[in-house]
Amino acid sequence: MAFESESFSLVETSARRELDAAPDVEALQAWRVAYLGRRGRITQILRSLADLPLEERRRLGAAANRLKADLAAAYGERCARLQEAHLARVIEGARLDVTLPGYPLPQGHLHPITQTLRDVLRCFENMGFQVVEGPEVEWDYYNFEALRIPLDHPARDMWATLWIDYERDGQRPMLLRTHTSPNQVRVMEQSQPPVRVVVPGKVYRFEATDPTHDWMHTQVEGLAVDEGISMADLKGTLAEFAHRIFGPERKVAFSCDYFPFVEPGMELRIDCFLCGGKGCRTCGHSGWIEILGAGMVHPEIIANVGWDPERHTGFAFGMGIERIAMLRHGIDDIRLFYANDLRFLQQF
Ligand code: PHE
Repeated sequence: MAFESESFSLVETSARRELDAAPDVEALQAWRVAYLGRRGRITQILRSLADLPLEERRRLGAAANRLKADLAAAYGERCARLQEAHLARVIEGARLDVTLPGYPLPQGHLHPITQTLRDVLRCFENMGFQVVEGPEVEWDYYNFEALRIPLDHPARDMWATLWIDYERDGQRPMLLRTHTSPNQVRVMEQSQPPVRVVVPGKVYRFEATDPTHDWMHTQVEGLAVDEGISMADLKGTLAEFAHRIFGPERKVAFSCDYFPFVEPGMELRIDCFLCGGKGCRTCGHSGWIEILGAGMVHPEIIANVGWDPERHTGFAFGMGIERIAMLRHGIDDIRLFYANDLRFLQQF
């Protein structure tokens, strides 16, 4: 079957329409095979011209070849356009929007014990106390002897001790401090009256753990020595502390207690903020909660550092920070603080 010029223009029209409509590279490829391929429409046309008389074959052959060249050019152009569009889409997709918010980084916070420790220290700093520190590995001398607890004194049983594996004269003179009280002596040895210090630090005890005891806890020691310091100063200072940390509505009470390094020795209690004094589990059904131990520095200790106990008197106190944090937050097991469970720690 031979083709006339009109048929050429019909083929051209449909070819161009399909070419313009090709949405992607695959469609373009299919179009090329259909029209320009070895078995495509144009090749078929050219083959069919073979039977025509020479004159007509020349005329139509030239027209068919022109059509083939035109369509090939159109195909090339369409290819380029599609590639441009594709590139534009890629660039658009990769564009960086600098106004988008960033990814949040996980942020930690202070450990609940650190928080309470800082609150307690700030409270005393505001009352004129200075913060100092002492060693965790301590001599028996400072931890016991200098505090009027000699080797055979039964009061040593108050502090189950972790000894350091080091012997001198058949004895073990080093230990992990069982309380921060050795710093009373250390501070007085290194200064002149008046002194007013608080000493934070870790202390260690050779004890089985239970909900209210751990083998390590944090203490804050307080010491004030000056001319004319009396029990009234101690009571005023501790009442102020209790009100600042536990709230101005708390009642405070002082009762007798024994520590070899103070005379008299006492204990500070606040009324139970859970039951309001009626009695509950937290306060052991007494209505009162013990907060700390305290007392007037024993005159012998003042004399031992070379100060005159007739002129200089002072008070000391010591408290457990874990206990205060437990009371403040209603935590019923001290071991939670050091179990490193983020589900617990994240709550503070
Ligand atoms: N060091 C005592 C304890 O650990 C507390 C205390 C300190 C008592 C200062 C009196 C004076 O139990």
